[in-house]
Amino acid sequence: MRNWQELEHKYFMNTVERVPVTLVKGQGARVWDENGREYLDFVGGWAVNSLGHCHPVVTDAVVEQARTLIQTSNQFYTIPQVRLAEILVQNSCLDKVFFCNSGTEANEGAVKLARRYGQRYLGGAYEIITAMGSFHGRTLAMVAATAQTKLQKPYAPLPTGFKNVEYNNVEAIKAATTKQTCAVMLEPVQGEGGVNIPGDNYLAEVRAWCDQKGILFILDEIQTGAGRTGTLFAYEQYDIEPDIMTLAKGLASGISIGAFLAKDKASVFTPGEHGSTFGGNPLACAAGYATIKFIVDNDIAGNAMRVGQYLVTGLEGLKQKFRFITDVRGCGLLVALEFGSDIAGSLVTACLDKGLLVNRVKPNALRFMPPLIIGRDEVDEATGILDGVLSGIAG
Ligand SMILES: Cc1ncc(COP(=O)(O)O)c(C=O)c1O
Repeated sequence: MRNWQELEHKYFMNTVERVPVTLVKGQGARVWDENGREYLDFVGGWAVNSLGHCHPVVTDAVVEQARTLIQTSNQFYTIPQVRLAEILVQNSCLDKVFFCNSGTEANEGAVKLARRYGQRYLGGAYEIITAMGSFHGRTLAMVAATAQTKLQKPYAPLPTGFKNVEYNNVEAIKAATTKQTCAVMLEPVQGEGGVNIPGDNYLAEVRAWCDQKGILFILDEIQTGAGRTGTLFAYEQYDIEPDIMTLAKGLASGISIGAFLAKDKASVFTPGEHGSTFGGNPLACAAGYATIKFIVDNDIAGNAMRVGQYLVTGLEGLKQKFRFITDVRGCGLLVALEFGSDIAGSLVTACLDKGLLVNRVKPNALRFMPPLIIGRDEVDEATGILDGVLSGIAG
């Protein structure tokens, strides 16, 4: 058998510290490595495999679409694109959609849209306020939006027009707002920052401030959308409506896609002002439509809410047992377990050894983002493995 990991070191750019396992197959919440070893997958393609690996509705939609029409130019109308746009609009507070291929592109598009709005209605205002600890993507502008010095420093100078302020602090947003501000952009729950849950009134107060100032509120639901947090979109739980919302990750359950949606009033592009060669291609949109339809028809978000609460309860139990666990927090099936010291890396390795895939979101925190279709049995299995691994550490 070829040594795929060695070959990766030879041929692939050194951009990621991979977990030493080569995955070859997935089904539901399980994946298998090249030696046939099975793992319970609580990484879920990094919050992407919303319906699990190779769910039949997604696989069938992709196979059928691949046999029919994979890609056309956006000069032409295609049916899967319209169907996906329709189901997203019908199930959200937004009116219009643009499709692209990834999360960072969706945010780029949202920022361009907000700047266009600023030019049209706010005297040329172009600045976007974002929060510390956020993650909005890897393109240069989204690195500028992402308020993490370690991601920004290697790429200076960054595009201007972004102000990074403290998360969960509406006064910081107010203080940063000037005549040049056209929008505030936040994740409703910060995913990469460590699953940071907003304070009770934070998002509502930001919404009120944006209304007062006539500026746009952009929600980056790339990680939280498509049912992940227990409702189809996280904003539903905070009694607010964004003017612009971005999606990617779980939208097509594993096929690459991104989208930004806007209220009619913010939907200000005119032909030629934005575009994408692959964005909205029939293949990705067929997968997206199959995914969202299945989530909506089968209350998969409700399952994420219930099973997520069950997972949090299980982890709370571990917190009682192991004093070095300092926090459990989550929303639906986006959950973090935090420790008093930087043991998350060694826990990822120990869990892998026991057949459980988890993510080290911070040196001292694990994150769980399993497929939204899991049940209590899988949660019991995962918490059981964690219990054993943590007992080993507790000595
Ligand atoms: C909230 C959020 N926004 C944007 C992105 C970037 O998405 P992508 O990696 O698809 O460009 C991510 C990825 O983790 C994310 O979690």
